[in-house]
Amino acid sequence: MRKTLPSLHTGDLILVNRRFPAVGEPEDLTDLGNGVLLARPAALALEALLAAVNAGPSVTPVSGWRSQQEQTEIFDQSLRDSGRAFTEQYVAFPGHSEHQTGLAIDLGLTLPEIDFIRPAFPYSGICQAVRQRAAEFGFVERYPAGKEAITGISHEPWHFRYVGVPHAVLMTQRGWTLEEYHEAVKQYPLGGSGLPCQTQGRQYTIYYIPADAAGGLELEAGENCHLSGDNEGGLILTTWKEGR
Ligand code: DAL
Ligand code: ZN
Repeated sequence: MRKTLPSLHTGDLILVNRRFPAVGEPEDLTDLGNGVLLARPAALALEALLAAVNAGPSVTPVSGWRSQQEQTEIFDQSLRDSGRAFTEQYVAFPGHSEHQTGLAIDLGLTLPEIDFIRPAFPYSGICQAVRQRAAEFGFVERYPAGKEAITGISHEPWHFRYVGVPHAVLMTQRGWTLEEYHEAVKQYPLGGSGLPCQTQGRQYTIYYIPADAAGGLELEAGENCHLSGDNEGGLILTTWKEGR
């Protein structure tokens, strides 16, 4: 049976930044319990991550999914409160925020006052414990220091993006942003040897499929494989085998 191909604009690996806008809205939004919404796989993974480090009430999910209207309101409010330079550093242009995908979460150390735009999420204590195990649960720190020219956003220690396993593991090991990861994966077109990643008892292989090649793609349903759009011009195929 032929596997249905996803849209180029949906899936865990879509790139949303200044160049590539978010397309559509997620269909499977799930409440984290305090009114903050995430796409279901990301919500389940975040709950598992926070449970694994016994974060309890010490960590607060501050901002998850945002509608286009909400991102516009946040952007405009930040312009009024903090000016254009600050806003363009820390708030994505409406239509171009990862928060609109339901795959991004801002985490804050629980304090009497939590800054909505820049919550504290230090490189120590419980926050660092979350960060150190984030990749295992499919999350990456999306806007690291030193990569501002690539991401277009200033260092945001609080903003995590769900990309799933093994991608988060590979990106963290190699120090790749999502922009750099997409460029790396494009070097491994379907038909070649693929990009390997061994983690959590599985041997994964990752391939890039340009949109014009995806039309003729035949994949067996039930095969261990996962497809995501890249929101640029292709799909990313992840296959795996059990065992090392
Ligand atoms: N703070 C991130 C860049 C956003 O607004 O999407
Ligand atoms: Zn964020």
